[in-house]
Amino acid sequence: MSSSTGNILEIHDLHVEVEGKELLHGINLAIPEGQVHALMGPNGSGKTSLMMTIMGFSAYKVTRGQIIFDGRDITGLSVTERARLGIAIAQQRPPTIVGVKLRAVLDYIVAHDSISAEEVTQLVRQARVENFLDRDINAGLSGGEIKRAELVQLLATCPRFSMMDEPESGVDLDSLALVGSLVNRLFVRDSCRPVRRRSGLIVTHTGHILKYIEADRAHIMLDGRIGCSGNPHLVLQTIAERGYAECVCCMNEGA
Ligand SMILES: Nc1ncnc2c1ncn2[C@@H]1O[C@H](COP(=O)(O)OP(=O)(O)OP(=O)(O)O)[C@@H](O)[C@H]1O
Ligand SMILES: [Mg+2]
Repeated sequence: MSSSTGNILEIHDLHVEVEGKELLHGINLAIPEGQVHALMGPNGSGKTSLMMTIMGFSAYKVTRGQIIFDGRDITGLSVTERARLGIAIAQQRPPTIVGVKLRAVLDYIVAHDSISAEEVTQLVRQARVENFLDRDINAGLSGGEIKRAELVQLLATCPRFSMMDEPESGVDLDSLALVGSLVNRLFVRDSCRPVRRRSGLIVTHTGHILKYIEADRAHIMLDGRIGCSGNPHLVLQTIAERGYAECVCCMNEGA
C-alpha cells in the first residue's frame, strides 16, 4: 500500500553532516510509487551522500529535516530496519566482506524470503556470477563483476525501493546490456509486486543506463542541493550541450 500522498519516498529540508561538516544543505525530493528517478551532478556534489543517508548509514548524520518512506518517518531508523521495509542500495564502491561468501548470502535470502532456490540459480546464471559464488563478497572482483554481484543480491531480495549508485561505471560496453537488463528487472512488475512497477533512484553520469530503464524524472545536484528537475532525456541533453556551469548560473538566478 502506498502513502496518502502517493509518494514512496519524500525528503523534506534534509541537512546532513559527516564528521562535523555539512554535505547536504536542505534537500527536498518526492518520488511517487511506481516511478524511477535519475540523479545527476558533478563529482563531489553529494549524490552518494544522499543515497547513503536514505539507506541510513550512521556516518551520515541528519541534523535537520525528514525522510518519509511509504508514509512513515524513517529518519531515526537503522539500516537494518530500513532494509526490512524494502529499501536497498547497490553502492558506488561496495566493501569487500571477508568471511562471507556470495553463496551464503543467497542461501540466506532463499531461506528467509519469498524467492525459490531455482529462481536464484537462474538469476546467478543470467548475471554470470557462478564463478564468484564461493568467493568472499566482492573480494578481488573487477569493477564490472562487482556490479553484477551487487545486482544479483538486490534482485533476490525484490526490494520495494532500489537505489543504484552509478551502475554503469566500470562496465565495458559489451557488458552494459547485461547490467542494463538486470537493472531493468529490478523495476519491472513481477511475481513479487504484480500490480505496479517498483520504484527507485539511479545515479548516472553518462545516462547510458537510461537506455535500459526508463526514468520518469531527473534531478541535478550541485554542491549539496537539488538545483533543478525535469525530463531525464532533456536534462541529459542539456548537460551534454552546456555542462553543469549552466546549471550553476540557473541556480544562482533562482536564489
Ligand atoms: N566520510 C566523509 N568525510 C568527509 N567528507 C566526505 C565524506 N563523504 C563524503 N564527503 C565529501 O562530501 C562531498 C560529496 O561527496 P559524494 O561522494 O556524496 O559526491 P558524489 O556526488 O557522489 O560524487 P561522485 O560523482 O564523484 O561519486 C565530497 O566533497 C566528499 O569529499
Ligand atoms: Mg558518488
